[in-house]
Amino acid sequence: MNAGFSNVYDDEARSLAYATLEFPGSYFLAFRDLPSIIGEHVLGTKALDFGCGAGRSTRFLRGLGFEVVGVDISEPMLARARERDPAGDYRLLPAGDVAGVEGSAYDLVLSAFTFDNVPTMEKKVTLFRDLKGLLKPRGRIVNLVSSPEIYVHEWASFSTKDFPENRAARCGDEVLILMLDVEDQRPVEDIVWTDEGYREVYHRAGVRPEGIYRPLGKQGEPCAWVNETRIAPWVIYVLGPAEQTVDIEFCGERKRGRWNDRLAGRGYEKVRTELLDVVARDTPMPIGIEHGRDGLDRGLLVLECRLVPNHHVLAVRSAGKRRGICRAH
Ligand SMILES: C[S@@+](CC[C@H](N)C(=O)[O-])C[C@H]1O[C@@H](n2cnc3c(N)ncnc32)[C@H](O)[C@@H]1O
Repeated sequence: MNAGFSNVYDDEARSLAYATLEFPGSYFLAFRDLPSIIGEHVLGTKALDFGCGAGRSTRFLRGLGFEVVGVDISEPMLARARERDPAGDYRLLPAGDVAGVEGSAYDLVLSAFTFDNVPTMEKKVTLFRDLKGLLKPRGRIVNLVSSPEIYVHEWASFSTKDFPENRAARCGDEVLILMLDVEDQRPVEDIVWTDEGYREVYHRAGVRPEGIYRPLGKQGEPCAWVNETRIAPWVIYVLGPAEQTVDIEFCGERKRGRWNDRLAGRGYEKVRTELLDVVARDTPMPIGIEHGRDGLDRGLLVLECRLVPNHHVLAVRSAGKRRGICRAH
């Protein structure tokens, strides 16, 4: 894992190069299927483009009829986005997190290549958990990322032959790739992340893939494909909130439900957030439950939670020494 990694896009020359980039070569494949994927999974028209860069993906979403806010950690990239699209809504996220972005507001959060530049499991999990909080109840995250294979093959838009060390890279390591469509010929530093690694991130963040796409090039397309017809350079994950079934037993009473429907909005929200937090952190910690209008409304104060490894079972001990078990499946 590479905690010292720095975002190559926080750079004037790189932003100028990116500003001219549309959908050439391998990029065509990244965007080709997005309209149908979004059409299938997303309802509504409010979108956040997380890691909008010079605005290419934001303009793309607007072309699909979305009302889009573009956000990015890089001021030079945002400056290019605004120059090109003065009427667009582009906002700086100085800390690279989504604090300050309005919650529960979006039907779609698109992240196009952004997570290629986010190092560490912890940072990715935090961001996905926060992005989930920006979604409307039926909202979806579309996470478009580079596949690990992109860093070890040749492509219409990329070369990696000068970086044989990429072959030894493991999930979370830094890798180099040359972009062939731009004048800036400094290699881009990315973080390679495997499918298994992303599944772990999603699990910890409380989101669930409801669609995974690996677009391949087709004969007859207006691109000189290199490896794109047999190896997918990109992976597109469509993510929704994980539907967790939860049993709560307390004082002999038993409640059962899925967090996302029956229990949501009925006073369990705070309990849910805290329990899932404990599950995600994988570590015992005290939690407090302050209120609730249903079965948990007894001035219950949970003092201690114990996570039973691999089972997501929380043993709960209350102030009155009554014991309960919460299971999040
Ligand atoms: C490869 S560019 C893609 C830009 C745009 N989505 C597109 O398709 O043209 C990735 C962008 O993600 C941004 N980024 C990286 N980490 C970020 C973070 N933690 N928060 C917001 N933006 C981030 C970078 O600054 C960069 O502009």
